[in-house]
Amino acid sequence: MSSLPPAPARLRVRSITRQTPTVLSLVLESINREPLPAIRPGDHIDLRLTPTMVRSYSLVGHAGSPMRYEIAVALDPKSRGGSRHVHEKIRVGDELDIAGPRNLFELRQDAAHSFLIAGGIGITPIWSMVQELEHQGRSWTLCYAARSRSHAAYLEEIEALSSKSQVGRLITHFDDETGGTPLDIPAALASAPKDAHLYCCGPAPMLAVYEQAAAGRPADHVHLERFAAEEAPSGTDSTAFEIILAKSGKKLQVPADRTILDVILDNGIDAPYGCMQGVCGMCEVAVVEGVPDHRDGILSTSAKQSNGSIVICCSRSLTRSLTIDL
Ligand code: FES
Repeated sequence: MSSLPPAPARLRVRSITRQTPTVLSLVLESINREPLPAIRPGDHIDLRLTPTMVRSYSLVGHAGSPMRYEIAVALDPKSRGGSRHVHEKIRVGDELDIAGPRNLFELRQDAAHSFLIAGGIGITPIWSMVQELEHQGRSWTLCYAARSRSHAAYLEEIEALSSKSQVGRLITHFDDETGGTPLDIPAALASAPKDAHLYCCGPAPMLAVYEQAAAGRPADHVHLERFAAEEAPSGTDSTAFEIILAKSGKKLQVPADRTILDVILDNGIDAPYGCMQGVCGMCEVAVVEGVPDHRDGILSTSAKQSNGSIVICCSRSLTRSLTIDL
């Protein structure tokens, strides 16, 4: 099970900067200008954008105890409201509640070499990792792919760091310079030392290729972070089922077009949640009986196989009834 997040805090938007035509970075500081909880590479915060909308964003920047947090948000054309809200509604001086930071994409401290791949806005956690590796003088390679140079957030800073680095190497790939051919991830990974720890954050198609290309590597050397839960495989039905809440014995029906979390909240029952996208892990609940249909992007393969818990904002049930520890 995921650990509970640190207590929520209220932060003020100090500045908003356009990084690329589709990416804004936001600097957030505490209302009383106190230092914020320490951050580690790969950390994210959960930002409450409206009373009903919480989204998770990776923190950008060097590890340590910062005075400010920085996030970067790409405007997603398929936005379900989060990125559009940030781009169109959030202004300097606004106050936002956050939870975290939390880490679900840990940078291993024992790697002989770290090989990192970032696609588009996936650079945000990866850039933090690169800065930490550079700070520690540990060997790294970064492959950074984007639509074009002008769409690559933080590119200038990354190039400046890599040009001076004694331990790191930057490989860039811009689709508009290669006639639209994407980064050749299998070829890139083939150049990574056999004992390297591999990291990837980017869009779903990139992660699918990465997972396939890294299949021969030790599983605990292969790390990734998704922007959103994987789509249910085509042909996967979303059928209705029953949930039983173990603590009260209450039985609730989950219709085909609603999630377990929707139904629980609709019934006035308290449950922790954050992103509502199957990526933050805040809604993970233990399974008492039944077999979950895992559709999240957060549980490890072994956690999914053990069926010990379920991410209730997106996963469903393979059995007609599922008892959960709520
Ligand atoms: S609310 Fe984020 S994984 Fe469910």
